Formats: sequence, structure tokens, C-alpha cells
Amino acid sequence: MNSVALQPGRSLEVERAERLSDADLAELAEATDAAIIEGGGFGWVEPQGRAALERHFRGVLLVPERELFVARLDGHAVGSALLVRPPRNNEAQAFAATLTHAYIAPYARGFGLARRLVDKVEERAAALGHRVLNLDVRETQATAIALFESLGYVHWGTHPYYARVKGQTVAGRFYFKTLEPGRGRATGDLIDGAV
Ligand SMILES: CC(C)(COP(=O)(O)OP(=O)(O)OC[C@H]1O[C@@H](n2cnc3c(N)ncnc32)[C@H](O)[C@@H]1OP(=O)(O)O)[C@@H](O)C(=O)NCCC(=O)NCCS
Repeated sequence: MNSVALQPGRSLEVERAERLSDADLAELAEATDAAIIEGGGFGWVEPQGRAALERHFRGVLLVPERELFVARLDGHAVGSALLVRPPRNNEAQAFAATLTHAYIAPYARGFGLARRLVDKVEERAAALGHRVLNLDVRETQATAIALFESLGYVHWGTHPYYARVKGQTVAGRFYFKTLEPGRGRATGDLIDGAV
């Protein structure tokens, strides 16, 4: 577990979750609905309610190609992200993984948790042998775009019909970052074919 003292009495933690307590599930459901109401950034547009979101997170833990990372502020779950690995049959793309569903509840933003969340997902992806991390984000998510670009993600394309949100079509920006083996830092080697 990664724990960093923020200021007296506050702590930031990001962990890979292999199980979730009832308290974790309730806090994650609350954080997720709060993020959706504020403007989302991942699939949901309307708040889902506690029962549906708890089922969602329980389900995520059961999917072999998905790893859940939980961000905590002062020990409470306030956000999460998913590392999605390619299925076993996709040998041609086994080198790449995807970071998705990243969010921090509005009441826990600005402390640096999202930066730590992305760092942790990158570290894990690199440790698993992935050399590329892909992600995509609605072009309206300015904070997320600033975060990903500051972390070295390369914008390679924009999909003009990426999402429909409250009756409006929203474009989406697609990014990748190359990872150094086992270290989670960017490298240009892969671009030249020297995997
Ligand atoms: C994007 C998001 C995850 C950032 O969470 P956060 O915990 O507040 O982010 P951090 O505190 O780690 O800040 C990371 C960086 O984001 C940027 N940032 C944070 N708050 C910002 C703000 N209010 N305005 C502009 N940039 C901001 C800064 O570049 C910051 O870098 P710094 O560490 O050098 O200051 C959060 O705003 C969120 O959940 N948004 C909705 C969901 C979403 O867009 N998800 C991503 C797509 S799936």
C-alpha cells in the first residue's frame, strides 16, 4: 500500500483491491454517484444508486482481465480506476493494456490522489509486462486531460462521435503512453520497434 502523509491528520493511499469490505463498497458507491452527478467522465451519465454500484464493484473483482485500484483519503475509499488487460486470445496486443473508469469524488479532489492512482496503474501494468498503456477521455474532461498530458500521455487521435451525454454528442480524445519494463516510466524504445 502506498501511503503518504499529506498534512497532519490526513493521508493519501492507493491500493490494488483484490477484495472490498462492506464499508469499502458503500464508500465507493457514494464516491461514484457523487462523481457522476458532478459530470462523470466514465460511462455512467445518471447516478445509479448504492445497490447497483455495489453490484458493479463486486462484479469487477470477478473479471480476470480487470484489476481495480482504490484511492483513499484518510482511509476512506473516494475513487478508483481500472486496469484492463487484453484477453488471452489477443496475443498480438498482449503488450498493451488500458486504463479506464478513473475518477475521484468531488469532495476528495485536489489532493493529488488521481496522480497517484494513475502512477500506481502504470507501475502495475509495467510489472505485468505491458509496454503500452492506452486511455480515452471525453474532450469535455479538462482536468483529466491536463492530468494525463502532464503525465506524458500522447494524444494520437480524436473520435468526433465518442459519447452521447444528455442529448449532446461529445468528442473523445485517445492517448497512449509507453512504459519502461517493470518501472512504469515512459520510454521511446517501443516506437522504434525495440520491444
Ligand atoms: C480528473 C480527476 C480524476 C482528477 O482528480 P484529483 O484527485 O483532483 O487530481 P489530482 O489532485 O491528482 O491533480 C492532478 C493534476 O490534475 C490537474 N488538476 C487538478 N485539479 C485541477 C483543477 N481544478 N483545474 C485544472 N487542473 C487540475 C493538475 O494538472 C494536477 O496536477 P498537479 O499535481 O501538478 O497540481 C477528477 O477531477 C475527476 O474524477 N474528474 C471526473 C472524472 C474524469 O474526468 N475521469 C477521467 C476520465 S476516465
